[in-house]
Amino acid sequence: MISKHILLAVSGGIAAYKAAELVRLLRKQAFDVRVVMTKSAQAFISPLTFQALSGHPVGTQLLDENQEHVMGHINLARWADSVLVAPATANCIAKFSHGLSDDLVSTLVLAATCPVFVAPAMNQAMWNKAVTQENVTRLNRDGFRFIGPATGEQACGEIGYGRMAEPPVICETLSQFFSREEGELSGKKVLISAGPTREPIDPVRFITNRSSGKMGFALAEAAIEAGAIVTLVSGPVALAPPLNCRIINVESAAQMHEAVIAVAPGSDVYIGAAAVADYSPNANQPEKIKKNETTLILELFKTRDILADVAAFQEQRPFTVGFAAETHDLERYAKDKLAKKNLDMIAANWVGKDQGGFDRDQNALQVYWKGGEKHLEMTDKSQLARQLIKLIAEKMNEKNTT
Ligand code: C5P
Repeated sequence: MISKHILLAVSGGIAAYKAAELVRLLRKQAFDVRVVMTKSAQAFISPLTFQALSGHPVGTQLLDENQEHVMGHINLARWADSVLVAPATANCIAKFSHGLSDDLVSTLVLAATCPVFVAPAMNQAMWNKAVTQENVTRLNRDGFRFIGPATGEQACGEIGYGRMAEPPVICETLSQFFSREEGELSGKKVLISAGPTREPIDPVRFITNRSSGKMGFALAEAAIEAGAIVTLVSGPVALAPPLNCRIINVESAAQMHEAVIAVAPGSDVYIGAAAVADYSPNANQPEKIKKNETTLILELFKTRDILADVAAFQEQRPFTVGFAAETHDLERYAKDKLAKKNLDMIAANWVGKDQGGFDRDQNALQVYWKGGEKHLEMTDKSQLARQLIKLIAEKMNEKNTT
């Protein structure tokens, strides 16, 4: 493996001491690491520590004659195959989000054209502040890749999200990112929707379904493993997001529609693995409904079909894959959806009592495309996802070469 260049930017949080371990782990993985630090990071840990661990001089100043002589800030940004900011304070994140460049770290991040990974570390209240979340959303949209933060006890004694992800997790994220260059979907952009949706009845109640999101998340992992750049639009699930994945969290079918339609035009593949509600109360009910009546009639409206809308794109149409979960007549309904929704492929599975499918760890799939079909045996969802991703890559290549 060619040794990749990681430019580690350390900012001023108590987690800065963990960055020393990070350098050691990255070098063990044969990464060439150079370190730059903010002024406040130097209050927590000395540049000398990083110099000894990385084997390179450490950058602390912008436009300093001596430091620019070793490697100027623009050359450092060019040298990097990836910039990793760990720990990234709330202040750093705010600066990146607004394009400020008043020190070496922020200038390098602004100048970088390579992928930028950010491992936030801050007090949980700071992380949860709307302004921080807005900055994170904006950076996410601009292609920054967030690793963590993790949850747990913090240096300040509080508990919540804001702890820096552990160095082995950060190191694994980078290793995985760089080792995916030889996969079947190398460099392809894959969009996956997963999980259930929640359709609000009033401010406290909603209609949902039994989807756990496991299949969609397994597909995201398998696509990442195959080298894809994955965006996962997820309904409410209790699953940890895959590493190296851009995740957009949504609740309702309408929100999922909006998120998918925004990302789909730049994608090579769209896999609709979400169990999207077919009907929604479409409620704009500001107050909790009272139980004054003996019966309550809910009027439900058909939701927009996300999959069919993507498949109907005239330009930039991704290779579009749907799912069909059926309790009976599996083949007939699946083939019908393949044709009616104008899909490239459909993966059908049985659901219902004793049938696998929703909220199980195992599943079997019957996959159909125009002119062919394949049965994927009952196995755990991560294995099944790998097989389906392989089939998608194969059929997509066939389609592109005919
Ligand atoms: O028509 P049916 O809902 O059975 O089709 C299932 C497929 O359509 C799944 O891939 C699901 O994600 C997608 N779907 C959608 N938008 C909807 C309903 C279903 O994308 N409103």
